[in-house]
Amino acid sequence: MARSALLNVMVQAALKAGKSLARDFGEVQNLQVSVKGPSDFVSQADLKAEKIVHDELMKARPTYGFLGEESEEVKGTDGAHRWIVDPLDGTTNFLHGIPQFAVSIALERNGEVVAGVVFNPATDELFTAERGGGAFLNDRRIRVAARRALSDCVVGCGVPHLGRGNHGKFLVELRHVMGEVAGIRRLGAAALDLAYVAAGRLDGFWETDLSPWDMAAGIVLIREAGGFVSDMKGTTDIFGSGNIVAGNELIQKALLEVANRPVPTR
Ligand code: IPD
Ligand code: CA
Ligand code: CA
Repeated sequence: MARSALLNVMVQAALKAGKSLARDFGEVQNLQVSVKGPSDFVSQADLKAEKIVHDELMKARPTYGFLGEESEEVKGTDGAHRWIVDPLDGTTNFLHGIPQFAVSIALERNGEVVAGVVFNPATDELFTAERGGGAFLNDRRIRVAARRALSDCVVGCGVPHLGRGNHGKFLVELRHVMGEVAGIRRLGAAALDLAYVAAGRLDGFWETDLSPWDMAAGIVLIREAGGFVSDMKGTTDIFGSGNIVAGNELIQKALLEVANRPVPTR
């Protein structure tokens, strides 16, 4: 599999930040038992990872813009390109010693995501895609799952929690979706969830109230794996809405319809 120079830069940045996160993840597991807990330590791990990614990417392309979760957006002098980065997606998992987290890096060109990398250092799984070049898990080509009926599908989602999201609206969506599918999973790292859809592990996924850095890399991974994504209204305004529904052509449509069913009257 031949990677472009730009994708190589993204991969190197993700691997380097991932190495730092993996080291800190080992430490977090030791800190679990302390009274204060590992939260401050995890914030530092997160910031450190973003700095690594930022420095690697900006060294390679100093004129590009940079949107990272942990820092103020920097507009590039090159108006066309922007990096979109979540240095640690799945923070709650990381904090609790659950090895389901990732570094997510995407490249946007003229408002379109054209390349994406999602790396989970705990499993050494590297998901990569660039527009027109297909999607890969490590060196293996990946495709979205081919299931045609929602009743056979395992679907991922996000679940709102204390202080986050619209709990009532989610419960309505869940009520409708759980009645139609073979299983629902809440794995806790949206970038990785989307990579799992690209790899055919999850047949579909939906979540609301996300940010561009949660979704950017996953979007290009899914498209390059032959899948489809939209917001909850079926449009492409995914970043603007913060919502995403994903799957193969049939499952994405079906999930969109089911998740949008109106509130039951009884
Ligand atoms: C979060 C994760 C989680 C999703 C949250 C995100 P973070 O990102 O992707 O799965 O449900 O809404 O904010 O905070 O761990 O980078
Ligand atoms: Ca995130
Ligand atoms: Ca994050």
